[in-house]
Amino acid sequence: MNSTVQDPFEERFHHAAQRHERAWLFISVAMIAVLFIAAVYLVVHDYGVVAKTARIYVDPDTPATLADFQGSGIKQTGPESYNVYEMARIWSWTPGTSTPITLPAGSHVTFYVTSGDVLHGFEIQGTSINLTAIPGVIGHVSYTFDKPGTYYIICNEYCGAGHQAMIGKIIITARTKA
Ligand code: CUA
Repeated sequence: MNSTVQDPFEERFHHAAQRHERAWLFISVAMIAVLFIAAVYLVVHDYGVVAKTARIYVDPDTPATLADFQGSGIKQTGPESYNVYEMARIWSWTPGTSTPITLPAGSHVTFYVTSGDVLHGFEIQGTSINLTAIPGVIGHVSYTFDKPGTYYIICNEYCGAGHQAMIGKIIITARTKA
């Protein structure tokens, strides 16, 4: 039998194999394209560890010396808006559980968060707030607390032996009727 003459079964098999190869080639290229688009989207929409709007200092010790991070760490900026300045250090938040941040429901709060030593994760349970506390960088995130209750700040970035004890507290009190 001449080897150049293929039997019909073999021919069908080769066509099927080619179809599968083309399909999988297309799927692989499509996956690479999707990942590339996702990466560009995340960069454009500022989903980095350090947001473009964060304040960055050459000396990582500078944020700790700023007046905002001394005292209560709470500054009223409008009738229902506040700035809260949170300093992370192993292994506590300032302000932390001993001085809970107490604000009325409806408060629009902008948190300014930094670290005095290593990386920490600033997360407020029950909210969408989650940012990394970085030495020398002041990141910020805003949130409106509509529901009264107790909200806990936790550290979600492993930072050493006392990591799980890094807790802060926010108390949102019921709005008093005018
Ligand atoms: Cu701070 Cu984990």
